[in-house]
Amino acid sequence: MKEKRAYVTGADRGLGLELVKKLLKKDYMVFAGAFMPDEKGLSELENQYSKQLKTVKVDVSSDESVLSAAKEISRETDYLNLLINNAGIAKDRSETILDTMYYDDMLRLFNVNSLGTLRVTKSVINLLLKGEPKLLVNISSAAASVGTVTRKNQYGYTMSKAAVNMQSKLIYNTFHNQGLEVRAVHPGWMHTSIFGNADVMKDATFEPDEAAGLILESVFQPLKDEGHIFIENNGKPMPY
Ligand SMILES: NC(=O)c1ccc[n+]([C@@H]2O[C@H](COP(=O)([O-])OP(=O)(O)OC[C@H]3O[C@@H](n4cnc5c(N)ncnc54)[C@H](OP(=O)(O)O)[C@@H]3O)[C@@H](O)[C@H]2O)c1
Repeated sequence: MKEKRAYVTGADRGLGLELVKKLLKKDYMVFAGAFMPDEKGLSELENQYSKQLKTVKVDVSSDESVLSAAKEISRETDYLNLLINNAGIAKDRSETILDTMYYDDMLRLFNVNSLGTLRVTKSVINLLLKGEPKLLVNISSAAASVGTVTRKNQYGYTMSKAAVNMQSKLIYNTFHNQGLEVRAVHPGWMHTSIFGNADVMKDATFEPDEAAGLILESVFQPLKDEGHIFIENNGKPMPY
């Protein structure tokens, strides 16, 4: 059987690192997108899985960096079975519409969360279309769900993640007839450092390794609601 191959962005820590660990245990060859120079998680894994794991530097906010990572990957493989667009940021100084709006923060959120995801998908779509099976997983958020949102703030994060859902559906519409499965997944509230300090998320429902396990079980299952690709970590459809 052909080796399964995956590419995961934002893999230095948090959910991304846990997804990489679980994929390695499932015998995938993994291209792990590294962004932070100081995090030790990936280099420790590289020692353990020297043949299966390849770290690739990638800043998803930069065309040049994304293209250079894709070139590096295509020198090693002519197919991918799984792309997980996990890299994301959340910090935005803006509060409600009555407060100051920090458009610079929001532009950065759009560039990383929305366009970064699209950029990376575009950069390796040809490799992904050659995979058998082939699956694109975009890490979205409950914050993207216009149907359920009750918050009055986080304009940048919520809007940037809603755009992730839209691009996921456009890609599904384009390539589903060629066998590409697409999922936009809310990973659950996780105890990570997405706000710079893990204490902010200390009451979160999931540890990232638990969320990673649930995601990797659910994304390979058939959709519960045909064509409804926005799901929770357990595969349940989420309202767009
Ligand atoms: N934690 C939650 O409760 C929660 C809920 C819903 C959705 N999510 C989503 O889950 C995903 C993983 O987040 P997490 O909670 O595991 O947070 P995290 O620990 O901060 O992980 C995100 C990773 O992406 C990296 N990253 C940031 N900007 C990047 C860029 N330009 N290029 C490449 N990588 C970049 C981060 O590096 P830096 O730290 O240096 O920025 C970090 O290593 C994100 O898409 C997030 O929006 C999280």
